[in-house]
Amino acid sequence: MSQILREVPAEIPRPDYAQPGANGIPKSVQRDAFGRRKVVRNFMKGEDLVRMRKACKAAREVLEEVLAAVKPGVSTEELDIIAHNACIARGGYPSPLGYRGFPKSLCTSINEVICHGIPDAQRILQDGDIINCDVTIYLDGMHGDCSETVFVGTPSPEAQKLVDFTYRSLMSAIEIVRPGKKLNEIGKLISKMSKTAGYSVVRDFSGHGIGPVFHMPPHVVHYYERSNFSVIKEGMTFTIEPMINIGEFYADMLDDGWTALTLDRSLSAQFEHTIYVGKKGAEILTMGEPVYKKQLSLLEQ
Ligand code: MF3
Ligand code: CO
Ligand code: CO
Repeated sequence: MSQILREVPAEIPRPDYAQPGANGIPKSVQRDAFGRRKVVRNFMKGEDLVRMRKACKAAREVLEEVLAAVKPGVSTEELDIIAHNACIARGGYPSPLGYRGFPKSLCTSINEVICHGIPDAQRILQDGDIINCDVTIYLDGMHGDCSETVFVGTPSPEAQKLVDFTYRSLMSAIEIVRPGKKLNEIGKLISKMSKTAGYSVVRDFSGHGIGPVFHMPPHVVHYYERSNFSVIKEGMTFTIEPMINIGEFYADMLDDGWTALTLDRSLSAQFEHTIYVGKKGAEILTMGEPVYKKQLSLLEQ
């Protein structure tokens, strides 16, 4: 399926995979003369960290613009247009656009869709849906990545609980991050919390290092990986982005090659932040008040 991609003004700097002729493939996965994968490491400091903060703040602003438009009757295509224009208005490139062939500027994942849902003019938001909007912007040479799940109208109590749980699992994981801690403590905590709540943790998609490259080491899984001995180090910037299912963790994929959904078609929710590992712990670079919380308090009135 080839589609015409939405335009980005020529003066906006593009990531390598969106350069003419790159075909959506990032340079970071190219191999060197010996066939070894070129690995880009990211330990942020100085000017790089300033640029990273700026990209992440912009990602947050774009996400909030998108979420403000979520309501019954709106199509996911309309949300994509908002994300696209909001990135450009900040001088940034919408990172998903053309990434490994992804056709849009935003990911919109509704109900049983785990992640990477493709915006579509035919998909109109319905009262009772939950939708995750995932924004990534490439600005000043850095990618900032964040997502939230929000309510469309009034979802079922089960859906509301899942969304609240997923946010709390992300924030709990972020709280334990500090230099010297094992990376697998993140997944250990999220899977323990999920087990207690009766939910499952998606295994096929993970958090990731981020900076000049969209997806780079470290690989941040949300389940417990017993024999991963990686250690969290000061200066790392990575995402944590748990996807939590009401049913089983197994994922299925639509024929579009992107849309991942639960195999049992149970509901799935996700939240994502980009964090920076400082001396004392994580700084949330994409921080903001989650929208679902305001929605919850309005529903309770
Ligand atoms: N933003 C997603 C993530 O959290 C990645 C989307 S890749 C895309 O890592 F191609 F689907 F946009
Ligand atoms: Co991400
Ligand atoms: Co994302």
